[in-house]
Amino acid sequence: MNRKTILKIVVDIGMTVMLLLLMTYERIGAAVHEWLGMAMFVLFIIHHFLNRKWSGYVFKGRYTLFRIWQTILVIGILLTMAGSMYSGVVLSEYALSFLSIKGGRAFAREVHMISAYWGFVLMSLHLGLHWGMMMGIAKRFVKELPAIGRWLLRGIAVLIAGYGAYAFIQRDIGRYMLLINHFAFFDFEEPFVFFLADYMAVMWCFAWISHHFSKRLRYKM
Ligand code: HEM
Repeated sequence: MNRKTILKIVVDIGMTVMLLLLMTYERIGAAVHEWLGMAMFVLFIIHHFLNRKWSGYVFKGRYTLFRIWQTILVIGILLTMAGSMYSGVVLSEYALSFLSIKGGRAFAREVHMISAYWGFVLMSLHLGLHWGMMMGIAKRFVKELPAIGRWLLRGIAVLIAGYGAYAFIQRDIGRYMLLINHFAFFDFEEPFVFFLADYMAVMWCFAWISHHFSKRLRYKM
């Protein structure tokens, strides 16, 4: 594995961890959230720089179904990232408080809510496109498993995805995405790891769906 690939993997893992922590908002502290949000933006730029070859080909070549799906996700993530940053800057009370932006807070709150939760789902779907690569890396560390072991792992993957679908409903994520709930609820009595584990399961669920969906698209060309 060359240095660029290693850097790409480190940046991708960093973004995944940061995204999960960002979704906990006040549970990690509002100020930490804002600094992490800005660090996420820096990693996002680095991620695009490292994958600039892909962006360079956007207007070239044939669009297969898989490529259309991949491009829709990239555009969606770009929009939600821009929305999170714009609204984050307006709402900031710590990291960028010196800007003391007064107006547009109500609108920015709604933009932040939509961008954060749609962004979370879209980034999880995007992650699913790289499932094969992740499994490839995992295989480097694990010896070839017998068929029963592989089926057991597949079963566990399905169970986690199923639990993620349940957590998606239980945590009202869909209601935040559609702005049916205008305020996100954070239970400070609940152990932090439970919250994080549920969001990891939701992320897993969307990545799993995207992996299987895109596998079919690849066959259809
Ligand atoms: C990808 C980047 C980001 C994600 C995924 C994210 C996610 C979230 C989530 C899930 C919430 C709780 C739900 C809500 O009230 O909207 C929230 C709230 C908040 N975030 Fe972020 N955020 C990001 C970037 C930022 C940045 C860069 C800042 C500021 C510099 C920021 C400042 C805030 C503030 C001030 C709130 C509270 C909004 C309120 O008053 O209700 N966020 N964010």
